[in-house]
Amino acid sequence: MAKRFLVCSGKGGVGKSTLTVCLARALCARGKRVLLVDGDTGLRTLDLLTGLGAGAVYSWQDVLNDACTLSDAMLFDESGQLALLIPSNRANERFDGEAFSALLERACKDFDFCFLDAGAGIGEALLLFARTVDSALLVATPDRIAARAARQTAQMLEASVPACELRLLLNRYLPERVRYGDALSADAMIDETGVQLIGAIPEDPLLQKLDAGEIPAAKTAAAFDRVARRLSGERVPFLGKR
Ligand SMILES: Nc1ncnc2c1ncn2[C@@H]1O[C@H](COP(=O)(O)OP(=O)(O)OP(=O)(O)O)[C@@H](O)[C@H]1O
Ligand SMILES: [Mg+2]
Repeated sequence: MAKRFLVCSGKGGVGKSTLTVCLARALCARGKRVLLVDGDTGLRTLDLLTGLGAGAVYSWQDVLNDACTLSDAMLFDESGQLALLIPSNRANERFDGEAFSALLERACKDFDFCFLDAGAGIGEALLLFARTVDSALLVATPDRIAARAARQTAQMLEASVPACELRLLLNRYLPERVRYGDALSADAMIDETGVQLIGAIPEDPLLQKLDAGEIPAAKTAAAFDRVARRLSGERVPFLGKR
């Protein structure tokens, strides 16, 4: 049964979908089987970022509505290690949390990890998603605006879904920017959000071309690999100066 992670941030555009895909690939490179569930109903992204969307017909809402089976909706890569469930195109479509939870339970059976990529915001869907996972990766860029959104999201999740374990995943993090005073340090982000750190991914222009088949730079890939190992239960020291 897959370990289930919600990828969330409160604030939009901080890199949730990008990090979801790269982390999944890092885990696949270590031999893990990974299920991605795009939770951004109406604004799906993972089909383009993974390249698995061609010919996609059914969404996970179609499975909930008995319009197709789970295997009809599941999109696999060539290796069979990575799978994707896409959401419907209908914005703000409501769904039954218990039915979704049962669907995820079923879908996770043949995987080691599942990442549920949430859209921006802290609405009802986020709480329903949080109730279906074991942990949440709170993505934030190292600035006060993202930090506040992450703190508000963390506080909401802690109050409403205390069983969901939170970890902070920093994105677009460059220590030299911290030194020049242009970005908050990892320690400051931990203090601002009150959430324990799981990793920091650098700024990498190549990540902006994932949909064109580009892969992360070596330094970025190594950062994803460190997070993948931590998620797999390894103790991996944090590198260098924060
Ligand atoms: N580490 C990075 N380095 C450079 N660009 C990045 C990095 N992470 C994300 N980006 C870019 O930031 C933009 C937003 O990323 P992404 O769509 O993954 O964010 P999101 O949090 O999923 O957004 P939304 O809230 O709309 O779902 C994209 O153009 C992406 O390529
Ligand atoms: Mg996204």
